[in-house]
Amino acid sequence: MESIGRCITLLVLLGVLFTGHCEAQSPGSATGDARSLDTLLQDYAYRSLVHPRTGFVYDGTVPSNLTGIRIAAIRLRSGSLRKRGVDSYKEFGIPSDIVVQPYVKRLVLVYQNLGNWSSFYYPLPGYTYLTPVLGLLAYDATNLSATNLPKLDFAATNLPVSINFSNVVVPVPSGAIARCVWFGLNGSPDFRDSESGSMCTVFRQGHFSIVVNSSEIVLPPAPSEGPGLSLNPVVSRSNKSKLWKIIVSVIGGIALVLLALLTFVMLKYTRNKKVAKMEQHADAGVSLDTASVGNARVPVASGLRTQPILENELVA
Ligand SMILES: *[C@@H]1O[C@H](CO)[C@@H](O)[C@H](O)[C@H]1NC(C)=O
Ligand SMILES: *[C@@H]1O[C@H](CO)[C@@H](O)[C@H](O)[C@H]1NC(C)=O
Ligand SMILES: *[C@@H]1O[C@H](CO)[C@@H](O)[C@H](O)[C@H]1NC(C)=O
Ligand SMILES: *[C@@H]1O[C@H](CO)[C@@H](O)[C@H](O)[C@H]1NC(C)=O
Ligand SMILES: *[C@@H]1O[C@H](CO)[C@@H](O)[C@H](O)[C@H]1NC(C)=O
Repeated sequence: MESIGRCITLLVLLGVLFTGHCEAQSPGSATGDARSLDTLLQDYAYRSLVHPRTGFVYDGTVPSNLTGIRIAAIRLRSGSLRKRGVDSYKEFGIPSDIVVQPYVKRLVLVYQNLGNWSSFYYPLPGYTYLTPVLGLLAYDATNLSATNLPKLDFAATNLPVSINFSNVVVPVPSGAIARCVWFGLNGSPDFRDSESGSMCTVFRQGHFSIVVNSSEIVLPPAPSEGPGLSLNPVVSRSNKSKLWKIIVSVIGGIALVLLALLTFVMLKYTRNKKVAKMEQHADAGVSLDTASVGNARVPVASGLRTQPILENELVA
């Protein structure tokens, strides 16, 4: 019995260690550095611009340690961007009257689709992403080999930039209110209601997505695996479900071990009892007599051990 107690203590300790390990990875600590990601993606997006034609969209390639992220680049004259905008650049519709500062003759708009890395680089505890985080950032196009470029200031002065998430959005769960979230260059989120659940409008550059308050959804939305799109709920939710899985498996493990121990103890107990009984019989010298039946010797009972008592004897 002492060893069972020790076993249980060990298992409980293991369980505590597991949960502690999980909590150590709670939201915040897993946050990547979104600004250095911008720098890296600017470099990789520019690599796709080899003798680029103005106004053409070039898809870039990300390093293999960032598989799941998609990037693109388009080079524009700032004069034509101000006059005409860009009808459709991936999910973005860019109107006329965009002002870029400081003045550059040509600029590059870098597009980012963070895919399954969205909640890694832009964790939003309490919210669930319905779309990947998309980025639109403006850089000087003077030197296409340049790295560590500063962002240009980019502002819509008349109509807003529209973002059409139709092709990448998970349907809004019933009862939930879809909100557009905008991460400015300082990284802090800014929320607006999204009228249609798939469109957002913005006046500045940065990173954008559609989210719902996690407490408004009964069941987590089924992650739609569209081409290149894989959504993760925010880190806190996945950690919570992981935590539950671990708790359930620890409890299940303890139950299994206890069941095994119980079976073992019971088997041992019944065997001991049997042995004891047999020994008792041997001690009492009770053995079965044998008799010859033909050529074989078979055991026979040596008569009745308890003599029947006649009822009338008791009565008498
Ligand atoms: C990914 O790899 C690139 C180049 O191989 C490296 O510069 C970058 O730091 C790595 N990023 C992460 C997040 O591991
Ligand atoms: C995203 O998915 C790719 C494979 O499709 C994987 O290599 C990568 O680790 C995933 N990123 C995250 C943050 O889970
Ligand atoms: C989500 O909604 C609940 C209930 O309406 C509210 O208490 C909570 O503050 C909201 N969470 C966030 C992150 O806005
Ligand atoms: C462009 O940038 C690269 C990398 O920073 C640098 O080596 C090169 O000299 C620059 N070219 C010009 C023309 O400034
Ligand atoms: C958004 O994109 C979808 C599919 O590409 C298209 O059917 C829809 O008309 C677009 N919505 C707007 C408001 O542009």
